[in-house]
Amino acid sequence: MTRRVAILISGRGSNMTALIEAAKADAFPARIVVVISNKPDAAGLAKARDAGVAALTIESAAFGKDRGAFEAKLQQVLDEHRVDLICLGGFMRLFTADFVQRWHGRMLNIHPSLLPSFPGLDPHGQALRAGVKISGATVHFVIPETDAGPIVMQGAVTVHSDDTVDTLAARVLRIEHRIYPEALRLVAGGLVAIERGVCRIAADAFGDDRLISPATGGTPG
Ligand code: GAR
Repeated sequence: MTRRVAILISGRGSNMTALIEAAKADAFPARIVVVISNKPDAAGLAKARDAGVAALTIESAAFGKDRGAFEAKLQQVLDEHRVDLICLGGFMRLFTADFVQRWHGRMLNIHPSLLPSFPGLDPHGQALRAGVKISGATVHFVIPETDAGPIVMQGAVTVHSDDTVDTLAARVLRIEHRIYPEALRLVAGGLVAIERGVCRIAADAFGDDRLISPATGGTPG
């Protein structure tokens, strides 16, 4: 069964584009039925329409601090489009615990760090200040706590000594565009189960299980 997906954005929408492209494949178990932005000037809106996907704005600023009223409107639009799954793609607004509970196990987010490290704002700055040698991105189910929840998939990149926030962000973004469609494929395909707060993936396959940075040139153990 093909799952009906809404993507929520606030800005550029490059993860949205990666999801839309992947979902075009016949065998993909999900279809992107609507893109919703909480900001009228989000660049992703035009990209969604160019790709033939319905795109609309529910301006969160108009609701002020009344998160419940914003979410009631959002839920109405999700119902109208008979949405099964939500993907957050750079959606920069927090939800109430009620809304998160209603979508428990049916709402995914992507965050540009290897969670649980570096949640919240400026993850790449946090990674550079901590001096980690490997960073990456995480696709996870949404829970009330920000940038936390059962992890579906992660992708790692090396951190270079001369990296800036921008160069690291660009390297991580390429990994985001690979793992978000894959994670959605697993979830929409019914291959992910949440057990005691942890995702179990049916039939998972593994590539090279060693990722060492910096590479020393020594003989791998
Ligand atoms: C992405 O890097 C995403 O991981 C991040 O916002 C960016 C959105 O880019 N999300 C978060 O930081 C969530 N805490 P995009 O609009 O081009 O997909």
